Amino acid sequence: MSTLYVYSDKNAGAPLVETQDRKEIARHLNAEGVRFEQWEASFPISDQSSSEEILEAYSAEIERLKEEGGYKTADVINMYPSHPDKVALRQKFLDEHQHAEDEVRFFVKGDGLFYLHLEGKVMAVQCCAGDLISVPANTKHWFDMGDTPNFTAVRIFTNPEGWVAKFTGDKIASEYPRYEALAK
Ligand SMILES: [Fe+2]
Repeated sequence: MSTLYVYSDKNAGAPLVETQDRKEIARHLNAEGVRFEQWEASFPISDQSSSEEILEAYSAEIERLKEEGGYKTADVINMYPSHPDKVALRQKFLDEHQHAEDEVRFFVKGDGLFYLHLEGKVMAVQCCAGDLISVPANTKHWFDMGDTPNFTAVRIFTNPEGWVAKFTGDKIASEYPRYEALAK
């Protein structure tokens, strides 16, 4: 279930805010310049749907976002519990990092947790099926998919080649509860 936790960036103990109200989640995130929306497929899709079918089912929203955000391309990624690289892929984005571009993800199924390190706070948002999140360029953040990752997501890029992680070297991510503790 989509959930937002807001912590102080000085205290990884009890969160200051915890909500599963998607309007409230959007309000908190929008106030930080983070886009959070719910999208619906224009025709039914299933676990058997191809990437092309998924992109087609959400093409109106994807095109609108490309227009608004200057994005150029979209693809589909799929993580599943028996994925041979799941440990390495989880580890890859588990430390605080930044990108020179927005990180835009729409969850078609399953879920993942984004942690945004903003001025004075850490916002942890569990994105679930139907949720679109856009983490603005240069925002310090990390992402946890858990040890049994299971999601399909549309990724939307300005330039996929330029989408590389610049690690901050800050160990803050290790202080906050991981996916296993927070995901609902
Ligand atoms: Fe990232």
